Amino acid sequence: MKPITGLRRDHAAITVMMGVLEKLCAKCWQGEEINPNHLDKVVEFIEVFIDRYHHRKEEELFAALRKAGIPLDGGELGTIPEEHASLRRYIRGMREAAVDYRKQPVSGMYKFFINAREFGSVYLRHLDKEKNMLYPSAEWVLTGGEQEVLGKAFERIDGETGPARLVEFHLLANRLKDIYC
Ligand SMILES: [Fe+2]
Ligand SMILES: [Fe+2]
Repeated sequence: MKPITGLRRDHAAITVMMGVLEKLCAKCWQGEEINPNHLDKVVEFIEVFIDRYHHRKEEELFAALRKAGIPLDGGELGTIPEEHASLRRYIRGMREAAVDYRKQPVSGMYKFFINAREFGSVYLRHLDKEKNMLYPSAEWVLTGGEQEVLGKAFERIDGETGPARLVEFHLLANRLKDIYC
């Protein structure tokens, strides 16, 4: 599989999970109870699949683009690398909230809602910029050889994350979609 195709496949699972997150926020807002295990799983997906796996691959892509003469330091494309770092505070907030929720459901739910809404509003736009600008630019600018090198880096990251765990994340997104969407 070509490396950018792999990133698009990640986005498909991420988009499913963003839909689940939106439904969870609506439930929080209505004061409905949420299964704490589901909250943990959603946060694990965001921490591991999105931040440690997908973003790590994209950081390899940023490096490849810079090497190919695309600086990524201004305009709409330039905000993409910064957003990976700035979103981490909301991811941390969601993790803390999921832990708090088991002890103090009202404040835990409120904290989860605030962080998830902020994360969602920035991240949906982020995904859109990547889909419409970053990925097409990469396919246009990177040569076949450069894409092959990038693909090898992605294979290494796949191996470190664990292929079985990756399959599990895709299944999790669909399982939660069946419950909440
Ligand atoms: Fe990204
Ligand atoms: Fe992405």
